[in-house]
Amino acid sequence: MLSDIQNRTDVENLVNTFYEKVRADATIGMIFNEVAHVDWPSHLPKMYDFWESILFGTGQYRGRPMPPHFKLNEHHPFKPEYFDAWLALFYQTVDELFEGEKATEAKVRAVNIAAVMEHRINQINEGATASLLHRDQ
Ligand code: HEM
Repeated sequence: MLSDIQNRTDVENLVNTFYEKVRADATIGMIFNEVAHVDWPSHLPKMYDFWESILFGTGQYRGRPMPPHFKLNEHHPFKPEYFDAWLALFYQTVDELFEGEKATEAKVRAVNIAAVMEHRINQINEGATASLLHRDQ
């Protein structure tokens, strides 16, 4: 029987375990390792703050989650399978470690944020394609 996500230590465990899977993942690992060259000692605490804010309203996260992804997408356009891989790993990690209301909330928030992110990235990429097509007209 698993317990729910209860505090900052649980959030840190969730985030650390998730990004270990992400870094080793065949589909999205390379974005973190080779495209973004993520500085883990600064990225992970930001993600603890982000998830603590979402789940408990107590985190220190004051950033904007979307812009770094738009920037990444400029170097390396996001594909639908990146979101599928990200979400599958996130769900897997939550389910492996926790069970309860907060665990469910984490998954619901993740899928909602991913949907908004994917939608906005698709709009950007469709706009870029449209302007390329109309470039010579
Ligand atoms: C295809 C899926 C995704 C990929 C490949 C991805 C990749 C990344 C990378 C590489 C960074 C680090 C950027 C940097 O510091 O250089 C980042 C930052 C971040 N990501 Fe994602 N991400 C994805 C989906 C998500 C989702 C669904 C969420 C939220 C539920 C999320 C939340 C964040 C946040 C909060 C940051 C930190 C933003 C800041 O600097 O304040 N990401 N992401």
